[in-house]
Amino acid sequence: MQLKHLSLTNFRNYARLDRDVPNGLLLITGENGQGKTNLIEAINFLSSFVSFQAETDRQLIHFVATRDPLAVGRIVADFEVEQNPHRLEVRIIQEKEIGDGNGRLRKEVIYDGVKQKIAEVIGQFKSVIFLPQSLQIIAGAPEERRRFLNLALGQVIPHYSAILAEYTRALNQRNALLKLLAENNGDANQLNYWDSEISQLGARLIHARIHALIELENLAYPFYRQLTHETEILRFVYQPSFDPLGNRGGQYTLPVDVQIDRRGLPLEQIQESFQAKLLKLRGEEINRGMTTIGPHRDEIRFMGNGIDLGVYGSRGQVRTAILALKFAEMNWMKKKSGQWPVFLLDEVLAELDEQHRHDLFAQLSNFDQVILTTTDINLFSSQFLQNAQIWQVQAGQISLLE
Ligand SMILES: Nc1ncnc2c1ncn2[C@@H]1O[C@H](COP(=O)(O)OP(=O)(O)OP(=O)(O)O)[C@@H](O)[C@H]1O
Ligand SMILES: [Mg+2]
Repeated sequence: MQLKHLSLTNFRNYARLDRDVPNGLLLITGENGQGKTNLIEAINFLSSFVSFQAETDRQLIHFVATRDPLAVGRIVADFEVEQNPHRLEVRIIQEKEIGDGNGRLRKEVIYDGVKQKIAEVIGQFKSVIFLPQSLQIIAGAPEERRRFLNLALGQVIPHYSAILAEYTRALNQRNALLKLLAENNGDANQLNYWDSEISQLGARLIHARIHALIELENLAYPFYRQLTHETEILRFVYQPSFDPLGNRGGQYTLPVDVQIDRRGLPLEQIQESFQAKLLKLRGEEINRGMTTIGPHRDEIRFMGNGIDLGVYGSRGQVRTAILALKFAEMNWMKKKSGQWPVFLLDEVLAELDEQHRHDLFAQLSNFDQVILTTTDINLFSSQFLQNAQIWQVQAGQISLLE
């Protein structure tokens, strides 16, 4: 798929932007603080409908516009999927009444002229993103890894995003009920309905993750081999928060580097063992007032040569593993959907040595559309620069660099 045209209105420091976007390579250059990352953020927003950096969507609306009673930040993308044109529009709307402080905020998504629910539109515009902070997928907290998985799977696995949204809603309801039961000693059987809900929804997420992680691992493996000059191997270890194989004894207790193939597990079995485990933990969960198992507590470990990279990996190893993971994500999404996602890379060259830069350039030529940012175009080979369109960004204005 290809992004053909992008227009922004009051998005970050872009009061107004209206540009055709080239196929192939696009390099965005400019000094610090000019709007390179903001552009990548806008494009990625069309895939995930959340920002990878803002705490609230409010931060995405241009400062100046937010002074008005009605402020709208807008992203409109024209893109093609197998030569079929589509248009996706996101509006971030802040409405203030007098004495209203920050005002109310809402988000509207319009796909091909029709207003849609966000979970229904995720995956229409596909992108894979690499950011300096992507190292946190390996080195950071488990949420980072779950977020990565949810964004990748949500774009290509039918209904994944909608199921995740429903699961999260059901989980919140169940947690509220657990707290209530702890306070008033009510009838614990009220939990039966929610146990059944979250185990049915959660099992579908776990099932998708089991398969996706093995497929991603198989794709990442050769990239990591290549990037480490055949000296290291990369493995992904999925650790669901309870063992859906129904193994005895509480929480997941196997050693970290044991790879278990759960692909043969039918959905029903995952659901049944999830529900049975919830029943077993009921008393404890009422005491704690929260749901302690489920996909919201899953963990994934990234192992380099048998060592947990999240704990012991060097910065260089983690960076290499993330690159391999991102190449795998591109290829996996292509395999699942038949479409290359748009590849977005923010300051990817910053810490790469010459050889890794070379390896990266070689990979990028395989994809349909790649958008990169840099403060320093001298880091790019002359061959790369010849093949790329270059945009110079200064204070939210773009000019073409010849
Ligand atoms: N809501 C907003 N309204 C207006 N300007 C904003 C808003 N949010 C951020 N900015 C401005 O955008 C600029 C940062 O843009 P961005 O992060 O894209 O820079 P960059 O070109 O990637 O810089 P660097 O090379 O440092 O990464 C800052 O000057 C910041 O003040
Ligand atoms: Mg930046």
